[in-house]
Amino acid sequence: MHILVTGGAGFIGSHLVDALVNKGHQVKVLDNLFRGKTDHIQSHISEGRIEFLKADIREYSLLPEICGNVDLIFHLAAQSNVIGAVEDLDYSFESNVIGTFNMLKAARQSGVERFIFTSSREVYGEARYLPVDENHMLNAKNSYGASKVAGEKYCQVFQNMYPIEVAVVRLANVYGRRDFDRVIPIFLNQALKNEDISIFGGAQLIDFISVEIVVQVLLALAETGKMPDEPVNIGSGKGTNLFDLAQKIIHLTDSKSKIKVEPARSAEVVQFTAEITRFKKYFGIALPDDPLYLLSKMLPEEDSI
Ligand SMILES: NC(=O)c1ccc[n+]([C@@H]2O[C@H](COP(=O)([O-])OP(=O)(O)OC[C@H]3O[C@@H](n4cnc5c(N)ncnc54)[C@H](O)[C@@H]3O)[C@@H](O)[C@H]2O)c1
Repeated sequence: MHILVTGGAGFIGSHLVDALVNKGHQVKVLDNLFRGKTDHIQSHISEGRIEFLKADIREYSLLPEICGNVDLIFHLAAQSNVIGAVEDLDYSFESNVIGTFNMLKAARQSGVERFIFTSSREVYGEARYLPVDENHMLNAKNSYGASKVAGEKYCQVFQNMYPIEVAVVRLANVYGRRDFDRVIPIFLNQALKNEDISIFGGAQLIDFISVEIVVQVLLALAETGKMPDEPVNIGSGKGTNLFDLAQKIIHLTDSKSKIKVEPARSAEVVQFTAEITRFKKYFGIALPDDPLYLLSKMLPEEDSI
């Protein structure tokens, strides 16, 4: 297949690109390098296995041509960081709402058949009950969540009005190598330097899902005969509290770090675990007992310490 990955130089996108190349697909990557790095996909670029386009989804004019001769789009490009989205409302609105609308419009104009949108558990806001199923009200707490709700709504409208198949996956907290400014890489960094590990608030319950599993889900969507026509939570279904996470990381890194509790940050959703009946229905993917099974593979390679 001819596949376009927006945000393909980012954390999840670059792992997805690795997997798509391995499967022999023709891959184009569009990224403005706002958070992504070409280093993640450099070997594919250098060896001519993918086409890399430094472009911005806020700018419509180039997008129809980029979508030309593409069978499927994985739309991952976004301001993906909650605090970043809150600090720069304009950038997150323009990239996540207008950018998603632009990609849908360009996909339709170019006759792309399939579009996969990576939404977020942030669309639910603070949970009324746990675990949160897909019928929970959409009650975003911050501008990032609101932008994903808007993106989902445009996906739904394009799916209903035009001959394009659209799938929406609501990712929980994804972790793995190449991530850099979310809770797991931050804790790992602090632990490796024996610095205090800061927990904001302390009441958090987070559903972690490995990037390996997310990539399996995305590949399955590309290859299935018919994609789900309803949003699907992609999570482990299990909650981890931040004290347990910090302690696990301290133990894993043999660190002398102490845990320090800081005031809670008001934009952050405090508790979330995903209800995963739909995940099981659509994806026959086995979930490991320990959602944090991939943590040990995030430590620096021995020869780079
Ligand atoms: N990582 C998570 O825990 C998580 C959870 C839920 C949803 N998501 C969603 O999954 C997708 C991928 O997330 P990620 O963790 O890989 O984030 P990421 O920030 O590493 O990747 C996003 C990529 O989009 C690019 N980008 C940003 N604005 C752009 C623009 N205007 N034009 C073109 N490219 C642009 C960035 O440079 C980056 O490479 C995002 O849509 C994110 O919102 C991620």
